[in-house]
Amino acid sequence: MMHPAHRMSQLGTETAFQVLARAKALEEAGQDIINLGIGQPDFRTPDHIVEAAAKALQDGHHGYTAANGIAELRQAVAADIARHRGVEIDPDCVLIVPGGKVTMFFALLMLGEAGTEVMYPNPGFPIYESMIRFSGATPVAMPLHEDRGFAFDAEDVLSKVNANTRLIILNSPANPTGGVIPRAELDRLVAGLEAYPDVAILSDEIYARMLYDGRPHVSLLDYDSIRDRVILLDGWSKTYAMTGWRLGYGVWPADLIAGATRLAINCHSCVNAAVQYAGLAALEGPQDAVADMVAAFDQRRRVIVDELNRIDGFSCVEPGGAFYAFPNITGTGIDAHTLQDRLLNEAGVATIAGTSFGALGEGYLRFSYANSIDNIRAAMGRIRACL
Ligand SMILES: Cc1ncc(COP(=O)(O)O)c(C=O)c1O
Repeated sequence: MMHPAHRMSQLGTETAFQVLARAKALEEAGQDIINLGIGQPDFRTPDHIVEAAAKALQDGHHGYTAANGIAELRQAVAADIARHRGVEIDPDCVLIVPGGKVTMFFALLMLGEAGTEVMYPNPGFPIYESMIRFSGATPVAMPLHEDRGFAFDAEDVLSKVNANTRLIILNSPANPTGGVIPRAELDRLVAGLEAYPDVAILSDEIYARMLYDGRPHVSLLDYDSIRDRVILLDGWSKTYAMTGWRLGYGVWPADLIAGATRLAINCHSCVNAAVQYAGLAALEGPQDAVADMVAAFDQRRRVIVDELNRIDGFSCVEPGGAFYAFPNITGTGIDAHTLQDRLLNEAGVATIAGTSFGALGEGYLRFSYANSIDNIRAAMGRIRACL
């Protein structure tokens, strides 16, 4: 009999992948499914990016690269951060990794351990809580409030920080809520954190380019007083419709970059060379495909929020970013998981129960609007007919 390590029993998962598998199985069995569960853009990666990867392969980029990523790409990331966040960073603090998730995995492996606490948004991306538990640390939920547009209350967060707190995870714009933390709330949090110089901050800004109604992106890197302990997580998956390429980056504090690079060497050696050249073309090439995609998401956002608010028992606050709507479904009298199953099996609409994103997600469903307006309208019609 084999004996997996105890930490394996602590590892959670991302149920979105299970819903995806179930939706696919139903489709293969002949059911017509509209998938509003999936967390990836429904657009193709722009052609010039695909061509750059093909060219890199033709040009013979077949070997290992430096473990932290090719120098041109790390410089391009630094230039992109200067362009979009107005912050100068050292390209030597950039670690190119296979997807956005890897930065959170490494941050938790480096900072979490038994006897420490890590704060995370709830409802939030499920891998945060999973990885906190896996690391041995104690997860401390940072509640997000619907009546604040799914922002946290900085005073409440600060009241939970103590001598054991190692790391605070932030995510704005957010999955699953589409919420955007207002600058004033971040200002209050950062001012309070100045009293806790040992606490690191992991800022997951993977949806930074997907903001609506002219909202600016506020990066945690933009705060001088805590910059030396911010780990920035970003990547190409969402911005350039590149989820399947597996490409992301972290900007690490100077004190942590060597450890993070060592984890990369132990784990994956380096990211696929051709994919790194694709990432370079994405950052340095035309950005109109990004703007077009965000404009399309914005249109769909308006449609889905309007439609969701017309369903009996649903009410949906307007999401300010990402491509998710997170309606409150308590008015239906049905719990989130039961409703998720009913909508999939009876209406042929895939959604994700709010509880997949933490205990505080009860009473909500996540809808991704990475689907056409026609499909969104058709899905809403089916839900109305089903309830
Ligand atoms: C908030 C958040 N962070 C990170 C990721 C991971 O991105 P990647 O697919 O690049 O690993 C996701 C993906 O859904 C996400 O929603």
